[in-house]
Formats: sequence, structure tokens, C-alpha cells
Amino acid sequence: MTSVMGSPDATGRFGGFGGRYVPESLMPAVLELEVAFREAWTDPLFRAQYTSTLESYAGRPTRLYLAERLSEHLGAQIWLKREDLAHTGSHKINNVIGQALLARRMGKTRLIAETGAGQHGVATATAAALLGLDAKVYMGEVDVKRQSLNVFRMRLLGAEVEPVKSGSRTLKDAVNEAMRSWVAALEDTHYCIGSVMGPHPYPWMVREFQRVIGDEARSQYLVATGSTPDWVVACVGGGSNAAGTFAGFVDTSARLVGVEPEGGAAIGRGVGGIVHGMESYFLQDEFGQVNEASSISAGLDYPGVGPEHAYLHTIGRARYDQVNDDQVLDAVRLLARLEGIICALESAHAVAWLVQHREEIAGTSVVLTLSGRGDKDAETIAERLGFLEGESYA
Ligand SMILES: Cc1ncc(COP(=O)(O)O)c(C=O)c1O
Repeated sequence: MTSVMGSPDATGRFGGFGGRYVPESLMPAVLELEVAFREAWTDPLFRAQYTSTLESYAGRPTRLYLAERLSEHLGAQIWLKREDLAHTGSHKINNVIGQALLARRMGKTRLIAETGAGQHGVATATAAALLGLDAKVYMGEVDVKRQSLNVFRMRLLGAEVEPVKSGSRTLKDAVNEAMRSWVAALEDTHYCIGSVMGPHPYPWMVREFQRVIGDEARSQYLVATGSTPDWVVACVGGGSNAAGTFAGFVDTSARLVGVEPEGGAAIGRGVGGIVHGMESYFLQDEFGQVNEASSISAGLDYPGVGPEHAYLHTIGRARYDQVNDDQVLDAVRLLARLEGIICALESAHAVAWLVQHREEIAGTSVVLTLSGRGDKDAETIAERLGFLEGESYA
């Protein structure tokens, strides 16, 4: 029996989703990882090391900020959980610090990772530098181009970046390549997955390393207002910032909302299937082939979703809505001009949801996870806004 956002069952399933679908050659590695994580997560010394690294190095706790002008504009009280202010510029660092410390505890000397927007790759390169580990990051060729700032950052941090040329040359293909290369290097290498996806124990482990977002936000909100919010909103790619946020509020009366990109809405438009080691929802054609996602934000350009979100959707505990690229660009500009915050395109999906649902949220309170900052997207935003407005932002 699965408790909502507790531990998955022994086979790593959240209701009908999740599991561990890997080739035989990978099975010992995922089993070893599960045992190591279970031990570490119940070891007070490991927990203390994880927490103190997040505090002293990654800048936690991040602020919960009452966005007054945005609130006035929307007629609702909007609180922003500022993951954009975490070291490296997004929530990805929370998970990576956890996995890098775990990898070192397991005696691994090398990290590999996939990345879409490059934020997880930068976080992995950062943690590797911090702990003296080697790092190699797989990134689709399309994303290498549109997130060139992050490619530079990874290389400056000492990581090797391998452009992936297969398939759609985006995140899905980077995951395939990382998994393939892991099989050949299990002895010394930990595969640091960047979201709540992949085979058990990753979806559960990554959610646990990200629950710090929701736990902090809940107590910060309580201190500020004496209560819990009406809504909790976050963008969903694989779903790690949303899962970490939801975990802090799942036992309250808050309505949980995950926001998917229209062109990559695995819950909204996908069907059940097994890809990348997990059973979940994926964009697929009638023959079960995985379709390509398409989103302005590299970090949400993924045709699947973490299995726990599929479960939360099925039982009705969380709701998943979609916004499109133009609404996202409007949201970036709105937040920049009302609050002086340039957020990541991924995070702007959550802001766009507020705008699209302003009548529904009128007079209520919302905690929204702003998962990252927008520096990496400056070029894309300038290009698209210049195009939309007929102005040059150069
Ligand atoms: C800033 C930011 N937010 C959100 C995401 C999406 O990931 P997830 O759904 O796992 O939070 C990414 C992924 O790269 C990201 O960089």
C-alpha cells in the first residue's frame, strides 16, 4: 500500500506507476544505490552533512517572498519560493548535493549526468568540483546551442560536456546516452539523474533530496501567516521541483498544481508506457513510439513525467494544467517588470498559470516555486520577445 508521498512500495511503485525496468546489466547498480540511499537517509550523520552543505554552500534556506505588486496585479496573495537564489541558480543543486555526497559515500569517484536546460549539468559540475569528483554531462545538441551559457559554465567548472546527436537531440536523447554510458562504467561511476524519473530508487530519492523546498516553504509560510496556503504551484518537466514542493504540503488542504508545457504535457496529452526505466505517462504515437516534446524551455522539453506525478494525478491529489510558449514569454516579462525578477523559462510556466487562472485564484493565497533564474534564457527570450514585439532587444 502506497502512502501519498511517503516511501514507494518495495518494488518502487507509486500505485500503478514507477518500478524498475532496466537491463540485467544495470540491475546490480540500481539495487546497490537503493541500499546505499536507504542507509544514508536514515543516518543522522549523512543528513547533517547534507543539510549543512546546503546551508553553508548552496545558500539555503531560500527566501519565501511575498510578491506584492504581482499580488496586486492578480488580486491574490502570491508568495514566491526563491529557488532562483540558490547557488548555481536553480533548485537542481539540492538534489545534486545529496547524490554527490551519496556517491562519495559509496566510493564512487565519477559522476555522469544528463541535462536539458543545463541547470542540472551545472549543478553536477559544481558538486563534482566541490567534492573532488570527475564529471561528464550528456546534453542534446539542440540544447547545447540554446543553453550555451550553461555549457560554458560546466566546462569552466571542469566537467566534460558531450553533445548528443541522436534522435531529437534534446533531453530524452541525453538520458538514453547517459544510461548507455553508465552500463560501461558501473565500478567507479554514479549516474546522477536530474529529476524524479528513471528506475527505482531515483524518483523517490530525488523527491527526498528536493523536499527541502516544500518543508522550508511550509514553515516559512506558517511563520509569516500562521496558516497554510490555498494553492501550491510549480512547473513540471520530469517533476522534481514540483515533487519537492508538493511533499511539504501534501498533508494540508492546499490544492497542488503542476504546470506542464503544452508541447510536452505528458500527463495532459500522454498515455501510459515504460521508458527510461519507469512506468509513467509519455507522449507516444499509436504504435507506442515516443513522440518528441516541443517547448521553448529546454528543461521542460521532455516527453515523459516522473511516476509519482502520474500517481498524484490518478488519485486526484494534484492537478496538472498546461500553458503555451507565448503565455510563458508574457509571464517572464510580467514578473520582470512587476517584481524585478528575471526567472527561468521553466519557472515562468508556473507564473503563466497564475495569469491564466486569475479568476479562480482571486482572493486566495498561493505559494509558487520559482525554480530558477533566467540568465541562461536571455538569448531565447530576447529573440522571441523581439520577434513578438517587433523590437530589438540587442
Ligand atoms: C530552472 C528549472 N526549472 C525546472 C526544471 C524542470 O525540472 P523538474 O521538473 O525536474 O523540476 C528545470 C530543468 O532543467 C530547470 O532548469
